[in-house]
Amino acid sequence: MTDQSPVTSMDAKPATLPDAQTVTHVQHWTDRLFSFRVTRPASLRFRSGEFVMIGLLGDNGKPLLRAYSIASPAWDDELEFYSIKVPDGPLTSKLQHIEVGDQIILRPKPVGTLVLDALLPGKRLWFFATGTGIAPYASLMRDPDTYERYDEVIMMHTCRDVAELEYGRQLVDNTKGDEVLAELFGEGFADKLKYYPTTTREKSPNMGRITDNLTSGKAFADLGIDGINPETDRGMVCGSLAFNTDMKAVLEGFGLVEGANSDPKHYVVEKAFVGDGI
Ligand code: FAD
Ligand code: A2P
Repeated sequence: MTDQSPVTSMDAKPATLPDAQTVTHVQHWTDRLFSFRVTRPASLRFRSGEFVMIGLLGDNGKPLLRAYSIASPAWDDELEFYSIKVPDGPLTSKLQHIEVGDQIILRPKPVGTLVLDALLPGKRLWFFATGTGIAPYASLMRDPDTYERYDEVIMMHTCRDVAELEYGRQLVDNTKGDEVLAELFGEGFADKLKYYPTTTREKSPNMGRITDNLTSGKAFADLGIDGINPETDRGMVCGSLAFNTDMKAVLEGFGLVEGANSDPKHYVVEKAFVGDGI
C-alpha cells in the first residue's frame, strides 16, 4: 500500500480521520505473528503495560478497531505493536499487509491493569505470558521504572513452537544488552532480567506449560529460586482466558492476591485477546 491518503483500508478508501499514524517498520516473525512500529502522537502519554485501540477503515468506511497492548516503553519516540494474524479476522486479515508509509488509526486513550502502579512493592516481578501476551511485557521490560522497583524480573513465555518465541528472545537479548539500562543499574544489570521460555508442541531446551512448570516446581529449580511467596513476589498475567484462569488459581495457591489500579495487591491479569464466544 503506497496510497498517501490519511487512513486507508486494503481497498484504499481515502478518509480524513484525526487519529491517523504512519507505519515506520514492519517485521514478520512467522505466518501467524508480526510486529510493527508507528509514529507516536506528540500528546500521547501512557504507562508501560497499557493498551490502546488501533485499526484500519473497514470496507464500510467506518473505523474497524481492536485493543492492542503497546509493546514499546513509555519513553520511546514511536509506538510498537506485536500482532497475531487471524486468517479470517476482520482486522488482522488486513492489518497483516501493512507496509512502511501506510497509515493506521490509533485512538490515544491508553488503559489497562498490567501497570506497575497496580502492584504493591516487592523484590521480584514475574511476567507470565502465552503467545502475543508478551506484548505488554515488551513495554515494561524496557522501562527503567521496572528495575527501580524490583531487584529481579523474570519473563516466562510459552508458545507452541520455537519460532513463536523469537520476538521475545530477541527482545530479552536486546534489553539485557541495553546500554542505558546498564548505565542506570550497573554492569550486573543483565542478571536482573531472567528469561524462561518454553514450548509445548515442539521440542526445545525447556518444555511445558507455565502453569505446570510452576506447580511442579521445575521452573523454580531451573531458575534457582525457592518459590513464589506474597512477601517478596509480584506477578503479571497475560494470555488466553483459559491461561489467565489457570494462572490465577496457581498464584492464589502461592498466597498471592489479585490487585487492580484502584487497589494494588500481589498480582494483576489482562486478557491477550477475547476468545470465540466470550
Ligand atoms: P477478532 O475477531 O478480534 O478475533 C478472532 C479470533 O481470533 C478470536 O475470537 C480469538 O479466538 C483469536 N485471536 C484474537 N486475537 C488473538 C491473539 N492475540 N492471539 C491468539 N488468538 C487471537 N492482539 C494482538 O495480536 N496483540 C496485542 O497486543 C493484543 N492486545 C490485546 C489487548 C487486550 C486488552 C485485548 C482484549 C485484546 C488484545 N488483542 C491483541 C487481541 C486483538 O484485540 C484482536 O482480537 C486481534 O487483533 C484479532 O483481531 P481480528 O479483528 O483480526 O479478529
Ligand atoms: P498447549 O500447546 O499445551 O495447549 P495458543 O497457541 O493455543 O494460544 O497457546 C499458546 C500457548 O499457551 C501454548 O503453548 C499452550 O499450550 C499454552 N496454553 C494454552 N492454554 C493454557 C492454559 N490453560 N494454561 C497454561 N498454558 C496454556
